[in-house]
Amino acid sequence: MKLQGATALVTGTNRGIGHEFARQLLHRGAKVYATARRPELVDIPGAEVLRLDITDQSSVDAAAEVAQDVDILINNAASTAGGSLVTGDLDAIRLMIDSNYYGTLAMIRAFAPILARNGGGAIVNVLSAVAWATVEGNTAYAAAKSAQWGLTNGVRLELASQGTLVAALVPGLVGTQTLLDFAEREGLELPEGVVLEPAEIVRLALDGLEAGSIEILDPLAVETKAALAGPPRAIF
Ligand SMILES: NC(=O)c1ccc[n+]([C@@H]2O[C@H](COP(=O)([O-])OP(=O)(O)OC[C@H]3O[C@@H](n4cnc5c(N)ncnc54)[C@H](OP(=O)(O)O)[C@@H]3O)[C@@H](O)[C@H]2O)c1
Repeated sequence: MKLQGATALVTGTNRGIGHEFARQLLHRGAKVYATARRPELVDIPGAEVLRLDITDQSSVDAAAEVAQDVDILINNAASTAGGSLVTGDLDAIRLMIDSNYYGTLAMIRAFAPILARNGGGAIVNVLSAVAWATVEGNTAYAAAKSAQWGLTNGVRLELASQGTLVAALVPGLVGTQTLLDFAEREGLELPEGVVLEPAEIVRLALDGLEAGSIEILDPLAVETKAALAGPPRAIF
């Protein structure tokens, strides 16, 4: 998929990996709709900023009405603070599924016809290596990411006939403020040498997208996927 001259919409661009996606896509010559729940927090020169909450259907529909020229959809936005499946707050667990699964799905359903009209294009869903393991202190998040992986595989099959590439970006650990805060809160020591910078994971993602890859994995994700053949385990 050629990025020069393409039109991308990125969710959750006010911080973290989404911010970096919007920045690098612009740098590679794409037009970018940089979306966020609070658009006033988006500071990305050259991007067209849109308000978008992926868990609100009317907000998704409004974005799709404006961004009719999109041929790349980057589903990055998600809540990540799920907590424990057994003892955690059920509303927080529902929010995990709402944003990671139903939010991503709402975006895909709204934009699939637009991508078809614009020649097929591509969708990148930002998953996580925890989809293939679990994570101490955030089992609800890991389970939601597993569901999002299943969704990604299903949508890839369904959209193949309209020529849409559906790619899974599977990062291991990316040093955004959200990850650093989580590790501190849980008293977890981040393993040395495996935490990527947001710029590194996005560079990997966009190179993979340009190469037409359907799964884009960083080294920790490669190791985690390989370990699926063994007994279930937790990352960390
Ligand atoms: N950091 C990691 O180690 C890591 C590893 C693997 C995968 N990932 C995945 O990468 C993606 C980004 O992670 P990150 O570390 O950059 O997270 P982050 O810094 O916490 O950013 C999350 C972004 O998603 C937005 N968001 C949350 N719910 C939303 C909703 N309903 N509608 C629209 N936007 C919403 C947030 O907006 P607000 O500011 O309004 O909350 C924020 O912009 C997530 O899908 C995450 O699961 C991260």
